[in-house]
Amino acid sequence: MSILWRDAMSRALYGPGGFFVAGTGPADHFRTSVHASPAFAAALLRLITEVDAALGHPSRLDVVDVGAGRGELLRALLASVRVAVGVSGEPARSGRSGLIPPRAGSPETLTPTAPVRSLRDEPSSGTVRPSLAARVRFTAVEYAHRPENLPEEITWTSEIPAEITGVLLATEWLDNVPLDVAVHTEDGWRYLLVDPESGVETIGEPISSDDLDWLTTWWPSPETTHSNHRRAEIGRSRDEAWAHAVGKISRGLAVAVDYGHLREARPADGTLTGYRGGRQVPPVPDGSSDVTAHVAMDSVASAGAAVARCAYSLVLQREALRALGADGGRPPLSLAGTDPAGYVRALAAASAVAELTDPAGLGGHLWLRQPVGIPLGPAVAR
Ligand SMILES: C[S@@+](CC[C@H](N)C(=O)[O-])C[C@H]1O[C@@H](n2cnc3c(N)ncnc32)[C@H](O)[C@@H]1O
Repeated sequence: MSILWRDAMSRALYGPGGFFVAGTGPADHFRTSVHASPAFAAALLRLITEVDAALGHPSRLDVVDVGAGRGELLRALLASVRVAVGVSGEPARSGRSGLIPPRAGSPETLTPTAPVRSLRDEPSSGTVRPSLAARVRFTAVEYAHRPENLPEEITWTSEIPAEITGVLLATEWLDNVPLDVAVHTEDGWRYLLVDPESGVETIGEPISSDDLDWLTTWWPSPETTHSNHRRAEIGRSRDEAWAHAVGKISRGLAVAVDYGHLREARPADGTLTGYRGGRQVPPVPDGSSDVTAHVAMDSVASAGAAVARCAYSLVLQREALRALGADGGRPPLSLAGTDPAGYVRALAAASAVAELTDPAGLGGHLWLRQPVGIPLGPAVAR
């Protein structure tokens, strides 16, 4: 029986036996920035230290990863914090096979960790402040079960905790928040229904007034623009998910990283698609593949700002990473003569960042940074 796309996605991804909760995890099916390079976690750690400073080095600094996959990002952050304070622990890891492409498409990558500013907290005059490692609390928010070998320092939960003081991260989470799809007909927008087994679509009822309001504001219709938009992905559920997440922050910064689009350039026929085993496949919501759609990031940003009552920043990943010191610049050739091993290491580090900043791939992702009760300045870094 055909059902709304939002219901079909919910069941296929998160229902019993759903793609994300029952399978081996996203990393076996597509490549995100988290998997692509340790340079990504290193840049985020730099951002976290800046937020920590903006918050006045609180006694507990929360780092919450929403849609945490199998905990890859928090493992890397935990390892980096341990290394930075001289605690032995597992090394930072890139996560998995380099053969799997990102969902937004981009080339292969290499490795090492980009330099991170020292995490040893400077004691101020006469006082000794506990290190970041002693104050940070890592929480993974994920529908899937806790992985068996996850370090005990990482809390695992299916609900976003309340009263967060620190940083909430959401990398490629919002694109998997189920949404409805509409088609423009002679008598206006109607929902598209989908048969979960076959993926065959049929036209359903006229859309609700709330969804019509959303489309009117955020997704210009063919009538008003004379454009070719025949179908539209109604991002209201993503707006609500993001507003809910931002509402959990007492003070700090929320960061969403995802592939998306803005009002002036919505995709003409939508972006709904599937991924399985490293390959893009048709979006059939039968639980055997990922089902994803690009995120209307401006709409999401507006919803979060209404809750936070603070201005947000929305930039491309390549700009955000460069502002955090990950610029992908090649080392000078002269280094090869004086320090061949150092040159190779620097070249590898530059290549790792290059994948993250490639405008045709991961670098084209959008970074939404939403401060709550702190200035935007530190969040945006240099
Ligand atoms: C595309 S994966 C991203 C994984 C990881 N953040 C990364 O960047 O590699 C999306 C993940 O979000 C999880 N997820 C989606 N909505 C969620 C929610 N509301 N609460 C908890 N987990 C959710 C899914 O189970 C899935 O593991």
